[in-house]
Amino acid sequence: MSQFEHQDELNHPRTQTPELTKIVEQGLSRRRFLGAGAALSAVAFFTLSPMSKSLASVLAPSGSPLLGFKSVPVSTADRVIVPEGYQVERLISWGDPLFSDVAEFSNTITQNTAASQKRQFGDNNDGMSFFPIDDQTAVLAINNEYSNYELMFAHQGKKMTAADVQYAQAAHGISVITLTKQAPGWRFQKDGQFNRRIDANTPMRISGPAQGHALLQTQVDPKGEIALGTFNNCANGMTPWGTYLTCEENFNSYFGSDAQVDLSSAFARYGIAAQDAGYSWYKFDQRFDLAHEPNEANRFGWVVEIDPYNPNAMPVKRTALGRFKHENAELVIAEDGRVVVYLGDDERGEHIYRFVSRDKYNPNNQAANRDLLDEGDLFVARFNDDGSGEWLSLAHGQNGLTAENGFHSQAEILIHARLAATQVGATTMDRPEWVAVHPHEPMVFCTLTNNKNRGVQEGQSVNGANPRAENHYGQIVRWVPTDGQHTAGDFKWDLFVLAGNPAVHAGTPYAGSGNITTENMFNSPDGIGFDQAGRLWIQSDGNYSNQGDFAGQGNNQMLCADPKTGEIRRFLTGPVASEITGLSFTPDQKTLFVGVQHPGEKLNPSHFPLGGDSVPRSSVMVITRVDGGVIGS
Ligand code: FEO
Ligand code: CA
Ligand code: CA
Ligand code: CA
Repeated sequence: MSQFEHQDELNHPRTQTPELTKIVEQGLSRRRFLGAGAALSAVAFFTLSPMSKSLASVLAPSGSPLLGFKSVPVSTADRVIVPEGYQVERLISWGDPLFSDVAEFSNTITQNTAASQKRQFGDNNDGMSFFPIDDQTAVLAINNEYSNYELMFAHQGKKMTAADVQYAQAAHGISVITLTKQAPGWRFQKDGQFNRRIDANTPMRISGPAQGHALLQTQVDPKGEIALGTFNNCANGMTPWGTYLTCEENFNSYFGSDAQVDLSSAFARYGIAAQDAGYSWYKFDQRFDLAHEPNEANRFGWVVEIDPYNPNAMPVKRTALGRFKHENAELVIAEDGRVVVYLGDDERGEHIYRFVSRDKYNPNNQAANRDLLDEGDLFVARFNDDGSGEWLSLAHGQNGLTAENGFHSQAEILIHARLAATQVGATTMDRPEWVAVHPHEPMVFCTLTNNKNRGVQEGQSVNGANPRAENHYGQIVRWVPTDGQHTAGDFKWDLFVLAGNPAVHAGTPYAGSGNITTENMFNSPDGIGFDQAGRLWIQSDGNYSNQGDFAGQGNNQMLCADPKTGEIRRFLTGPVASEITGLSFTPDQKTLFVGVQHPGEKLNPSHFPLGGDSVPRSSVMVITRVDGGVIGS
């Protein structure tokens, strides 16, 4: 990445009295907001740290030169709403056939089959990346995170059969689709040469330091080298050598057993339990039965690398990036040429990680980069309350990661990355979701979506970067690595925004930071990404009840922020009971792909996107400007 120009944003705080400090101190006097022990450290933090002072820069939240569109109001409508001068169209939806010899999705849902779904667009699209080929052709790789049984099955998941499980497994994974540029814009190309489905049964290679480890060996794969499938693929990343990274998140939910099982403490830390989350895979597919195959669960929770240009290429699970509930994988080439990948682990009280490759990226020989993600060092973040932070090494033999403490090898550290992170003293965070690196400055942002357990649960007391107990709104933390080097051992951080509801909680920390107003409020930031101009796009996956703590916030939404001024403006609102997740721009920045996930979940009344009495279906939307201009400008 490029030059380090704006460290002063963090290191030379403005002299104004920071409004946030006042707000938080007022809030702290109200015992109901913060747990007892936590309050002192939070006061000390907000009074002393450069973090709160840097937020003074957000106190003039209007007129950003970066934000050129007119904000949209909150909405509870069952459609996607974009600003004046913009247009939004449907690109592809759950069940759309990728090939012309495959059945269309049927609104008579009992007609839909596993065989068709294996060659149809998957369900619950999430993170995605656009891979250009030429001006007229491109590939879009899209995660299909999970399925909503209440919308997929007439019995709503209550009477699962083997065929139903196969259908659900086929709806998971990744869809790779060919796009062509037509007169009205970028469109999905049925039968396109890159079209491909990867699902919960697609063979993939296990690579890196944990390949072949005893904990990854199963009866079907005694060498621990070939796993079947990927699922709960949440967010994503892309590499400069032209591959797609897909991140396995809540993999634990798919395992279970009706037999008596003796589960290890590591399983408990990963949420793997005899009771699954209701998917019922273990009842019909033995490898998901913990009693039958205890190691199968260790083969999930990884980042998987996929070549979107070769439909026959076998995906690769890159174990060097650690095993946890991965959100996305934000990759940046450091100034010295090494590859840095920032990774969030989305669970209450889990951590933020960083991988640094051993070898350097070679821009002149893409083939030479293919295994860069197999060798390198993994770190986990500590956020000190004084605004400093450091990357703690997860290398075997360091920081107590020794056999005496239960870590016998690097492979075992990677498989049990969460346990290793605790051993080295990582900071517990409010559910780390996406990480995004600024395109022109060494500045990194991570969404911390919310955490109802903060200040309530043992081990999750309030801390500087996670300053609010019972945090229902979330925040975005950002950091600048020392000397602007993504490979540096430490960093300075602040909070870019504390989401909140100033209409309901005025004068308390739950109103949010100074850049949150009744005009732009939202809860639970999740997907984030930068465009080339340095606008930060923020997507929400929060409470859409529009009531109580969330009154006036409407459906989930997408916003756009100016990282310099802190201004945040609402760009889009989603349909009923949906989450907005997944974003990717074309290189000319004139087309934006946005994901609408699980409209109508939990049987909320939605018929998005086709209307009438159709089944609501997750969809990828294409957004352009009527005048053909750059999005957001
Ligand atoms: Fe799949 Fe953390 O969101
Ligand atoms: Ca997410
Ligand atoms: Ca989320
Ligand atoms: Ca989701």
